[in-house]
Amino acid sequence: MIKIGIVNVSDRASKGIYEDLPGKEVKRVLNEYLISDWEPVYEVVPDEQDQLESTFIRFADQEGCCLIVTTGGTGPAKRDVTPEATEAVCEKMMPGFGELMRQVSLQYVPTAILSRQTAGIRGNCLIVNLPGKPKAIQECLEAVFPAIPYCIDLIEGPYLKVNDDNIKAFRPKSS
Ligand code: MTE
Repeated sequence: MIKIGIVNVSDRASKGIYEDLPGKEVKRVLNEYLISDWEPVYEVVPDEQDQLESTFIRFADQEGCCLIVTTGGTGPAKRDVTPEATEAVCEKMMPGFGELMRQVSLQYVPTAILSRQTAGIRGNCLIVNLPGKPKAIQECLEAVFPAIPYCIDLIEGPYLKVNDDNIKAFRPKSS
């Protein structure tokens, strides 16, 4: 079974003050994009770098997630540490993801440049940061998802089958 980690990074959601709307939105969008059966592995984590790192390591190494999508904690505030935690656990950074998401997000909000969202590879797992606002989730995933199945092929993860009616994944013909 294909496993995808969904990590909502939020002090307030982790205390139960907010409902996990970003996590639900990631699941909804991925269900639109994927035909392959997949299982979400969920966690709501406060903005604490050590807790985030241990969640990413557990999801990638023990749970065997091929993809981890995070929401929130990418901004400039003191407690925003999701990109730092991502970088700390990854062997390789994939800066193109953040570059494209910021570029696309600028069509929606001038504050798009406040997100330090990035992506990276840990073993056979791709970790992608999204901003925390539920409406930002589809805006960002729509932009980067077309490259995600091929990225997961290249890191020897499972073959993700995509619903062409909702999103076009790009795999070079030779692959
Ligand atoms: N990107 C999109 N697509 N839509 C948005 O509404 N909000 C921005 C930015 N990127 C936003 C966006 C704002 S206001 C901030 S502060 C940063 O993301 C960081 O958000 P985060 O701290 O919730 O990750």
